Amino acid sequence: MTSPRDRIPAMGRSSGSSPGSASGPRSGLTPGRTAPRRGGARRAPRDLAPNPRLLPIVDPRSPVTERYRRMMTHIDHLGVRDDHHYRMIVLTSSREAEGKTLTSMNLALVLAEDRDRKVVLMDVDLHRPRVHHFLLSKPRIGWMDAFEDRADIESAIVDLNQTRLRMLPAGRPPDKPAEVIKSERFRRLLRQLRDRFDAIILDAPPLMRFVDANILNSYADGLVFVIRAGLTSRQIVKKALAQVTTGRVIGTVLNDVRYTLVDRYYYRYDEYGGSYYDREER
Ligand SMILES: Nc1ncnc2c1ncn2[C@@H]1O[C@H](COP(=O)(O)OP(=O)(O)OP(=O)(O)O)[C@@H](O)[C@H]1O
Ligand SMILES: [Mg+2]
Repeated sequence: MTSPRDRIPAMGRSSGSSPGSASGPRSGLTPGRTAPRRGGARRAPRDLAPNPRLLPIVDPRSPVTERYRRMMTHIDHLGVRDDHHYRMIVLTSSREAEGKTLTSMNLALVLAEDRDRKVVLMDVDLHRPRVHHFLLSKPRIGWMDAFEDRADIESAIVDLNQTRLRMLPAGRPPDKPAEVIKSERFRRLLRQLRDRFDAIILDAPPLMRFVDANILNSYADGLVFVIRAGLTSRQIVKKALAQVTTGRVIGTVLNDVRYTLVDRYYYRYDEYGGSYYDREER
């Protein structure tokens, strides 16, 4: 029996009683038609920086990648059930460093495996924009440049060499992020992206520190909540979810769960006891 320990996210559904799950827009990350690329010559695609945690790229058959695909299927099924496309999804967590940006990227990568689905990952964390860290070289501009009229949004969209996913880095962060997120101009920008893409993944700041994710959820079709296993207590999770007062919570990701390989099957460590949900607030 081999037992390499792997750190992988587990995904599950939010319960019906999750704050925000009862109301809000209903919609599915289902393929649809998108507007053709507008204006200008095609930009040269960029390379992703080598990163062993981008499992849909480095190990497309890993159980972690399969978990991401399962989450994608879950969102698609919600769309079919509700007869509404869940196209714009906010990813957030209670606090910093729970794996929001990594999870956003990996979920966006598996969504982009579908040839009929145009997917963009947008960095809407204007406090700690980090999506561009997945790139080998830092992009010159981001969507903030379009927001502030220094560029058009098309020129801020990054094509990637290794995947069909597109990336929309934030660019220079503003002094007052919430003012930007609340503005009608920003909402117009999101509407433009809805016209252009089938799936828009929004990598947002943490709920307990900033209002941004809650505001973003009122524009989006659903929120996916990331929890870092072993780091965040159940009470903190509850408090954070209570702050979701708009839109719907459509899923949770338990990130950084340790898995073990037993007879060619992976098992979660907490299936052998020590469940994450048994922990109390420290
Ligand atoms: N499952 C995992 N296994 C190993 N490392 C991980 C895992 N998830 C996240 N990390 C690492 O933890 C750090 C924080 O992850 P990430 O930036 O995705 O979190 P975040 O919630 O977006 O943080 P922030 O609140 O600063 O935006 C990164 O260095 C990332 O590579
Ligand atoms: Mg982040």
